[in-house]
Amino acid sequence: MSKRHGSYGFDAPWALTGLILGALVLAGLAAASFALDILAAGLAFLFGALYTLASAASHLYTTRRGRFAVWAEELGRLRGDERLLDLGCGRGAVLLLAAERLEQGRATGVDLWRTQGQSGDAEPVTRANAEAEGVSERVELVTGDLRDLPFGDAAFDAVVSSLAVHDIPAAEGREQAVREAYRVLRPGGLLLIADFQHTADYEETLRGLGVVDVRRRDAGWRFWHGGPWFRTTFVEARKPAG
Ligand SMILES: C[S@@+](CC[C@H](N)C(=O)[O-])C[C@H]1O[C@@H](n2cnc3c(N)ncnc32)[C@H](O)[C@@H]1O
Repeated sequence: MSKRHGSYGFDAPWALTGLILGALVLAGLAAASFALDILAAGLAFLFGALYTLASAASHLYTTRRGRFAVWAEELGRLRGDERLLDLGCGRGAVLLLAAERLEQGRATGVDLWRTQGQSGDAEPVTRANAEAEGVSERVELVTGDLRDLPFGDAAFDAVVSSLAVHDIPAAEGREQAVREAYRVLRPGGLLLIADFQHTADYEETLRGLGVVDVRRRDAGWRFWHGGPWFRTTFVEARKPAG
């Protein structure tokens, strides 16, 4: 993976802030317990503080480095001439990694630019990141809803998404987003969705659409947001060819 020049913010900033504050509070309680000679409580709070700190470190590593490394490997399979769509591209972490590989292709990112899933999410920020990575001429940014994509059928050779579909609160909405991803994908094209929730539902939706070449797999420790209980799963599918 090449060095990143853009500014990509933090995934789930509220979770990271909560973990850091939690570790500080627990450390304070441990210090107070030791000062009052309550050894058992002090040790318990200290263990809690270290555990929470380790979770914060895992989250920070994933959001700043791990997810980029994992996606760079996944995108290594692109030929370089594809039309690729990134669903919920945010500040462009995946979109711009893809654009680097698409020397003869095009990378389109669609988003509603909400900030609760990622800090500082805004189209001008993503545009500036595309400039910073030197790929802006291959990148198109579109404001649109994943549940009603503003693209024609079979418009893309590859559709990817990272930690975006779960942001849609209702199950019907998430199902609609997966249906839309499938609709805009050309026959034979690749669909790759990374998420930490609902991935079994995405697979079921795709099977219901007649996709047999679909599987789920763990994205590994580099994509943990705080520990193994908050892991990321890839749903990978090939749209049946014609
Ligand atoms: C956690 S961020 C992930 C951003 C980016 N994929 C990444 O990995 O850095 C989730 C993104 O999904 C977008 N999003 C959530 N619901 C959406 C919807 N219904 N339509 C379009 N974008 C949506 C949010 O605006 C946000 O940018």
